[in-house]
Amino acid sequence: MNIDELGVLLKTFSDKDNNAPIPFKRTELGSSGTTFIPKDMSIPIVVKFQSKIQSETEYLANSFYRKLVKKLPREFYGHFGVPKTELATNNISKFANLFKKLTSLEITTESTLLIDCKNGATLYNVESSHTLFSLSDEDLRKIFFSIGQISGLDFITGNCDRFIPKKFRGVINPLFRINNGNVLIKLSKDGTNTLKKIYLIDNGPGLTDFFDFDERKGEELDDDTNYAVYSLFGDETQSALEEKPPEKKKNNLMSGEETRRERQADFEYFLHADDAELYAIANQIYVGVLNSIEEDDKIATKEEIEAVFKQDSSLIDEIKKGLDLTREQLGCVNISVIVDNLFSKAKNFHESPKKYLNFLNANFSLTR
Ligand SMILES: Nc1ncnc2c1ncn2[C@@H]1O[C@H](COP(=O)(O)OP(=O)(O)OP(=O)(O)O)[C@@H](O)[C@H]1O
Ligand SMILES: [Mg+2]
Repeated sequence: MNIDELGVLLKTFSDKDNNAPIPFKRTELGSSGTTFIPKDMSIPIVVKFQSKIQSETEYLANSFYRKLVKKLPREFYGHFGVPKTELATNNISKFANLFKKLTSLEITTESTLLIDCKNGATLYNVESSHTLFSLSDEDLRKIFFSIGQISGLDFITGNCDRFIPKKFRGVINPLFRINNGNVLIKLSKDGTNTLKKIYLIDNGPGLTDFFDFDERKGEELDDDTNYAVYSLFGDETQSALEEKPPEKKKNNLMSGEETRRERQADFEYFLHADDAELYAIANQIYVGVLNSIEEDDKIATKEEIEAVFKQDSSLIDEIKKGLDLTREQLGCVNISVIVDNLFSKAKNFHESPKKYLNFLNANFSLTR
């Protein structure tokens, strides 16, 4: 369904019942954009308004992950899904008006993404509802194995907004925590909580980091907003609230090129990690998951978490196996074909994400 068709459909709702609200609601967690999810699955589409740059990269990243997952062996990756995404840049204003009533936030009318809505709970929901504790041992293992597999994929696009840390070189940071909002977990509905599917969502932030300053200038933001956004793209140790003038701040921040180089080095570290180094990456991710459980699961006691997780280092091995499998499988997929195909359809997109993926293409022999 494209934006015009959805617009016509939604308008019938507001016309029919004297301006009745359209059947969507804004998500509670979303921070990088204004994201609306359907109230029920009668229109199974997520609508996300954000800047053109963010939409382009999310569209590119979703398409990239989608194609990649499909090319990987079904027996190992068949339980993953990536929602289909459409990018619209025309006629946004009228369409956005239908959603404006649902939020007090500004809605950007530069572009919008229409994303297939999947039936699943975020890992955040799964953790906060204490559901992890009701899973079978086998499913719990599969989730940790999957976290490893997904982390391997995220190393390619430099996506540090899900499970992997930045610049990890073997030293465990005990405070690191994963972002548990960017995977959806579908469990069976027959009361047994059996793992059915894992969907990868919000896949763009890694690629968005690679933008050069001159490309970001295109974003029509006022000075204050610009300042905050630049800080998001830069060194995470620099706070948007520091009282330095924006101009000076901008010069201190990393350019897209530097970020690309940093993520390339992380990717290279992952590709060539020996057994002990790979175990350390898995261990850091595991620590990140435990920290998210400790924070978000309000029911589990410290003792319970320790009994299930801290005593059981075999879950680290599951993450490691997942990382290892993805690393091995990447050698069997022709990434350059995926990238070429993607960019042939995205000719007028910004340059930086293309630069990064083409670089990987040229410099890493991912097809052995
Ligand atoms: N395809 C989808 N199917 C079902 N629910 C979704 C889908 N995409 C997003 N959601 C829901 O909307 C929430 C916000 O989506 P998303 O993470 O894409 O937005 P965001 O603004 O980038 O959020 P954040 O900044 O917190 O990462 C998700 O946590 C999830 O609950
Ligand atoms: Mg998100």
